[in-house]
Amino acid sequence: MSLAGVDPESHGYTAGALILGPQEASQTMTSERKPISLHRLQDMHASGEKIAMLTCYDAAFAGLLDAAGVDVLLIGDSLGNVLQGRGSTAPVTLEDMVYHTTCVRRGVKTAWVVADLPFDSYHVSKEEAWKSAAALVKAGAHMVKLEGGGWTPETVRFISERGIPVCAHLGFTPQTVTALGGFKVQGRDEAGAARIKRETQELVDAGAAMLLYEMVPAALAAEITAASPVPVIGIGAGVGTSGQVLVLHDMLDITAGRKPRFVKNFMAGAAAVQDAVGRYVAEVKAKTFPVNEIHGF
Ligand code: KIV
Repeated sequence: MSLAGVDPESHGYTAGALILGPQEASQTMTSERKPISLHRLQDMHASGEKIAMLTCYDAAFAGLLDAAGVDVLLIGDSLGNVLQGRGSTAPVTLEDMVYHTTCVRRGVKTAWVVADLPFDSYHVSKEEAWKSAAALVKAGAHMVKLEGGGWTPETVRFISERGIPVCAHLGFTPQTVTALGGFKVQGRDEAGAARIKRETQELVDAGAAMLLYEMVPAALAAEITAASPVPVIGIGAGVGTSGQVLVLHDMLDITAGRKPRFVKNFMAGAAAVQDAVGRYVAEVKAKTFPVNEIHGF
């Protein structure tokens, strides 16, 4: 591959200035899937075609998940748990996220790439948040994700207005697990549900281009999705969202110890990792995963 003024390690899907070598050019010409754009995700949300999303932390898995038809790859700060063996996501640094985003982007051909803004990288000021988001975009992310409502819309507006799409993560937010009093379903009572709806509206008004709900009642997630102008991804939030996400190591049954009850082991009965991921995509698209309301740990 030869590049004119473009990062030689970038796939350059959006760069426009890419000169492809013969092998890559033929791959591009024969490739059936077009790169997933924000518009495509928006269309999927509007038409009811489900979005299949998984976490991903390296180039090898990025290539495998992409080839299996996963629409969105999330470089989640869950890498603190599943790769680094930590007890929470709080110690994950921006440098960790930049490194893994770079690795994932090298393996991606078509998927939309979302990277988590880690704990303590967007909390102090919107300017700091922009710098962190820009570092992730430079590493290859198409979109950044941040957690929480209330104080975050101002930050979401600042980043989005400057050209970086933002996904807002509500419901159970792992970065603030201590403040939430543990791994608890959020929005179960009337006041909690009203707060999530209010925060959702504020984030959409501020320009959030995607929403993600973790461990909220299925009925609440479905109601929010039906009214949402932007795609809504769920994890432990029932089948009524625009799409689903799981932590890769959970659904491949690599994670040691206790897993959330909403996780399904897609390796059970699968001949290979490719089959397991293909089944996940197929079940999300067919609305057969998740089957029902299973919450908590
Ligand atoms: O970090 C992560 O993997 C996440 C998912 C749980 C959605 O945020």
